[in-house]
Amino acid sequence: MAIEEKLATGSDAGFLWDFWYPAARSAEIRGRGLLTAMLLEVPLVLGRTDDGKAFAMRDSCPHRGIPLSYGRFDGKNLECSYHGWKFDGCSGQCVEIPSLTSQDKLKVERIFAEHYPCEEHDGYVWVYMNSPATRLPAMVPAAPKLVTFGERYKSTRLACDLPSNVDQGIIGLMDPAHGPFVHQSWFWRSKKSIHEKAKQFEPIPFGFRMSTHSPSSNSAPYQLLKKMTGAPVTTTIDFVLPNMRTEEIRSGKLWFSSLTTVTPVRRDWSRIDFLAAWNVPLPVTIFRAFAKTFLKQDQETMIQQAEGLQHNPRLMLIDDADRPAKWYFALKANLIESRRAGTKMVHPMDGPVTLRWRS
Ligand code: FES
Ligand SMILES: [Fe+2]
Repeated sequence: MAIEEKLATGSDAGFLWDFWYPAARSAEIRGRGLLTAMLLEVPLVLGRTDDGKAFAMRDSCPHRGIPLSYGRFDGKNLECSYHGWKFDGCSGQCVEIPSLTSQDKLKVERIFAEHYPCEEHDGYVWVYMNSPATRLPAMVPAAPKLVTFGERYKSTRLACDLPSNVDQGIIGLMDPAHGPFVHQSWFWRSKKSIHEKAKQFEPIPFGFRMSTHSPSSNSAPYQLLKKMTGAPVTTTIDFVLPNMRTEEIRSGKLWFSSLTTVTPVRRDWSRIDFLAAWNVPLPVTIFRAFAKTFLKQDQETMIQQAEGLQHNPRLMLIDDADRPAKWYFALKANLIESRRAGTKMVHPMDGPVTLRWRS
């Protein structure tokens, strides 16, 4: 079985553990309210202490498994609704078992509810999903952050659910050939504007980059940007494991930056989160309308694709248009293998390459 198939369908859900994933939008946690979320098939309860620190625990009481989200949160400790055990939100440490008498020898502080490192920025609650099989590293890497180029900018966030495995979502994100078919619109491009492209790609740690270049001249927004600044427009697109695409567009002093992640909720369900920031003179409402249209077009396509994938069809990836998808699968497989063997990860690319396709 090809690695692609194994990753997408086998008994192994093909999740990449030991990475940060966005679990929810910050705005969804209000006051002392608890929020539930799911990442990599792990049910989570999220909250924020009175000191403003977001936390994430497995939504399951270590006593008898009732979801902790049914409990009460006092701004510091979360009390289970069943027998009232109390856990510190940030560490998961048990601080009280009401049924214990003074004769009991049980060391309450040695009991922990499962919890995950949690950070809040860019308007998201990020959770570090450490593998059930490994211990949390002494130094948890920093959570992903959107790159910005100055203090003053506008930003917006959009999300949409995909009824498919994360791999399909990710290769959809990196797929250059669907543009003229899925994203046909007067403001972007039409099927007729298809032309041959050659783009250089280079390896970067855990991913690959579409090297800095001047974007497609058949897209109206780029032409407009060039007119506004008089400076060339350049764009750089990166894909980095486990699930992140970043794009930077710059022209003179104007810039646009975005971070898109496809997050595995379950093996058959994922979510796209799109965050963008810019200082280009473009109102948030207008940008959102365009971005929503795009995202919806991708979502509709993936809903239709999921319909087809239910019947386990044979699939193919072709050169060069699907090469980024092949790199993604190879990066993922090589990372899993390096972790299994305890060896250095082998990058599937030896150096820069030029890919050609028509779009
Ligand atoms: S199940 Fe949570 S305290 Fe018993
Ligand atoms: Fe798309």
